[in-house]
Amino acid sequence: MTDVVDATVSDGNMTPKSDLYFPSPEVVANANVPDYLAVREKALTDPVGFWDARAKELVDWYTPYTQVLDASNAPFFKWYVGGKTNIIHNALDRHIKTATKDKLALIWEAEDGAQRRYTYHDLWLEVNRFANVLKSLNVKKGDTVTIYMGRVPELSIAMLAVAKLGAIHSVVYGGFSEQALADRINDARSKVLVTCDGAWLRGKTVNLKDIADEAVAKAPVVEKVVVYQRTNQAIQWVENRDLWWHELVANVESECETEQMDAEDPLFILYTSGTTGKPKGQLHTCGGYQVHIATTLKYVFDIKAEDVWWCAADPGWITGHSYIVYAPLILGATGLMYEGAPGYPNPDRWWELVEKYGVTILYTAPTAIRGFMRLGEAWPEKHPMSTLRLLGSVGEPINPEAWRWYYKYIGKERCQIMDTWWQTETGGFMITPTPAVPLKPGSGTLPFAGIIADVVRTNGDSTDANEDGFLVIKHPWPGMARTIWGENERYVQTYWTDFAEQGWYFSGDSARRDEDGYFWVIGRMDDVIKVSGYRLGTAEVESALVSHPKVAEAACVGIPDEVKGNVIHAFCILNAGVTGDDALVKELKDHVRHEVGPIAIPAAIEFVPTLPKTRSGKIMRRLLKAQLMGQPIGDTSTLEG
Ligand code: WT7
Repeated sequence: MTDVVDATVSDGNMTPKSDLYFPSPEVVANANVPDYLAVREKALTDPVGFWDARAKELVDWYTPYTQVLDASNAPFFKWYVGGKTNIIHNALDRHIKTATKDKLALIWEAEDGAQRRYTYHDLWLEVNRFANVLKSLNVKKGDTVTIYMGRVPELSIAMLAVAKLGAIHSVVYGGFSEQALADRINDARSKVLVTCDGAWLRGKTVNLKDIADEAVAKAPVVEKVVVYQRTNQAIQWVENRDLWWHELVANVESECETEQMDAEDPLFILYTSGTTGKPKGQLHTCGGYQVHIATTLKYVFDIKAEDVWWCAADPGWITGHSYIVYAPLILGATGLMYEGAPGYPNPDRWWELVEKYGVTILYTAPTAIRGFMRLGEAWPEKHPMSTLRLLGSVGEPINPEAWRWYYKYIGKERCQIMDTWWQTETGGFMITPTPAVPLKPGSGTLPFAGIIADVVRTNGDSTDANEDGFLVIKHPWPGMARTIWGENERYVQTYWTDFAEQGWYFSGDSARRDEDGYFWVIGRMDDVIKVSGYRLGTAEVESALVSHPKVAEAACVGIPDEVKGNVIHAFCILNAGVTGDDALVKELKDHVRHEVGPIAIPAAIEFVPTLPKTRSGKIMRRLLKAQLMGQPIGDTSTLEG
């Protein structure tokens, strides 16, 4: 590790030296935190001190906290005990009293090219109005409100308004089915549902209100449905239950008091689908969450006053909650939101947007990058995108092939890539570089300052360099989910039992650390395949397959085998115009042998036109495996429609 840390800067531009990409001295000098590696080093021995300082630096408190961390009831940790705050005070209210008031908070572009721009003052007014609407519907502190909308600014406004009142939002991604929505409404016991008539997606409308109606039929707890009109399509209307957003906001005041919350009061629930059928409502709280996300966005994406930040995720996922809706506002930044899907209506729509709005930082997912790779580099090559200065990746391990493509064709070999490892459960980034950290394609580099992560064996010993193990977090952090909504026992069971003796959080991921101390996340533990006693990450074999010029995407599952324990069955989507035949199967097997070793050669390679994915773009290997083995396929509520 020390070699890397000592040699933090290169002598020129960001040029690769062996597999390391060093930031230039200018980039490091201009970073928000140029001495990051030293700060990080110090925080390793005093994480609580680090998070104490950040809470004072980035967030205002109505009443100061008296204790940074209370670990007396582990694993139910408390942060910033006694502190009173509201995330809306920090995201909006306080900016209205400064020059930030007239700065752009949010730029939104619709799929059809329509634009909307909100200053901080505009957004504050909209949030106040919708908060007053919710108040008139009897929403109070501690109530839950379920939000099921397309990618429109009103989704953010609804979330912010709920938080302003001290209520708890539960955003259900607009691509979920009616059953999934009903399950989540029932679990959260929401009396109010906020939805849209429809949503635009690839030039077609998604009938959100119809789906919401069906869900509410299965969730009688709902008393009121607020409908934002987006598509103007024909919908069913239930008198006394359904209410138009635009009619309600026309009749309320545009000032609304912000509720003072305890640091440990709930802020939101966000559901993750687990290996079992029942979704887990991850509960995040008011104090620690905002400190974690504001700190990480400032340090990692280096947000400055003049930046135009584009997190291209959906607000309905944790990435959107933390880094579209809340953290940029806390930092007083300008953010871009695009309504449509990547590559729609034309393959370079995203690159047009980057140029049109002068985007300086782009944060997206490997699955999107691989999608663009498939379309060819001619599209980004048409656009110099000279305003871009930083890139980001999240959601799954980024294969070095996609990393290099992203680096070359989007970042034009100028922009560092922040590969951020984290989870819905963690609230914010956990393992990530900052602009001051040398990069290795495919590695999230080092645990963030104040985060104590390790890769360990079953007995808790740290693994040796390049030895696979369990990715654990050894010290609590402020953005951690506090429990699973209504299921404390399940929370303890899921995250805190594998290393209960040591009191560590188990992420469910496997990883390894290399000789420089860099972390390489392999993937979910349940996506790890043991072949002849060898542990292979599906991501590893997939990365090898995808690095072949004819393969666009790949998914691998383990199939039981009498001799080897498991063998790998690979599914591949080929690039346009390539035919899958026996010769290609052989070619790919040779390729994997070459890339990873003979142990990783798939026993079978099947060419498919599509792969089943969750709506966040993760391949559902579990489903592929069940299909292969003729087993019931289980919960498919998160499957892309
Ligand atoms: C799981 C969490 C965090 C927002 C989006 C996903 C995988 C996430 C990375 C990364 C390797 C990653 C992990 C993790 N993951 N980011 N940069 N490198 N793997 O949130 O849906 O809660 O999924 O996504 O397996 O456990 P999520």
